[in-house]
Amino acid sequence: MSFSIIGTGRCVPKYIMTNQEISTFVDTSDEWIQQRTGICERHICKEETITDLCVTAAKNALEDAGVTPQELDLIICATLRGELITPSEACIVQKELGATCPAFDINGACSGFMYALDVADGFFARNKVKNVLVIAADNLSNITDWTDRSTCVLFGDGSGAVVLSKGEGLRSINLTAKGNTDVLFAPRGENTSPFYKHPSERPVLHMNGPEVYKFAVTSMVRGIKKAIKDAGLTPDDIDHIIPHQANSRIIEAAAAKLPIPHEKYVFNIAHYGNTSASCMPMALDEANKAGKFKKGDYIAMCAFGSGLTTGSAVIRWDKD
Ligand SMILES: CC(C)(COP(=O)(O)OP(=O)(O)OC[C@H]1O[C@@H](n2cnc3c(N)ncnc32)[C@H](O)[C@@H]1OP(=O)(O)O)[C@@H](O)C(=O)NCCC(=O)NCCS
Repeated sequence: MSFSIIGTGRCVPKYIMTNQEISTFVDTSDEWIQQRTGICERHICKEETITDLCVTAAKNALEDAGVTPQELDLIICATLRGELITPSEACIVQKELGATCPAFDINGACSGFMYALDVADGFFARNKVKNVLVIAADNLSNITDWTDRSTCVLFGDGSGAVVLSKGEGLRSINLTAKGNTDVLFAPRGENTSPFYKHPSERPVLHMNGPEVYKFAVTSMVRGIKKAIKDAGLTPDDIDHIIPHQANSRIIEAAAAKLPIPHEKYVFNIAHYGNTSASCMPMALDEANKAGKFKKGDYIAMCAFGSGLTTGSAVIRWDKD
């Protein structure tokens, strides 16, 4: 026994930062950003905390599912960095929701939501849970180097959530990791120990864009093909593809190598940028609320990110 998705939700901060605004503080242009990434604007936290984003997305998903916080058996939050070092973001959300179940975080970077789904699957397989809340949230604006034009144009803040319940919706899931601390990383930042011998570095994202680009295209093609094969399906059976929203050129390059028509791909990068772990559940929620999924549709998903990690899955949409 595994799970089916019975509710989705999302939340983004109010403030919208356009490409034009970014071009006022680094040497770039709306035209460059749109051509090279497909991004027009992104939402950036000013007033909101990551907890605000998580709690709103979670409440939306619970409402969509018709499940109360007290009926939850587990909360998993996929995030690079919650509001506090400890307790976990999932525990903070549990308190805010008034839930009483176990709660913990997972750091799978941009693949975190897929990692969380696979972990949740284990709890269902062991018959430990009936209802699970999976939240994915990141506010990368807090660890962005806003003087680095090659990274600051790419990311945005947001959160997405799903409620999982016993079912057979998960048809396949596959995770990978290839340890690498060079091409995409952020140092932890200040260390308070007077005894520690290593220097503190600013906690900002560093990225080798072209290397990540190559990894991303290869991973998406491989991940989607494997997820479809493992589900016992063919590309023709797939109704929707939700790719990680890192760069529309990455999605186009991978799509050109896959025998799946362009119209089946979900794109929302133009308005959000790369929201890290949140990309997948935000896209799921947008498509769900727009009525794009029919009961029985097959959705292939693939994420990739720092780690270097990947996660891909096929999910049958079992919701009415
Ligand atoms: C970052 C990325 C958009 C850069 O696009 P690119 O076409 O590879 O561009 P390059 O890095 O080769 O840089 C080309 C030129 O554009 C410049 N450039 C970089 N960012 C720029 C910006 N925002 N505005 C204007 N010029 C920029 C570079 O300085 C370089 O100039 P040079 O040729 O004079 O040295 C692309 O590599 C990418 O999307 N990589 C993957 C990133 C990603 O997905 N990260 C998250 C994974 S979860």
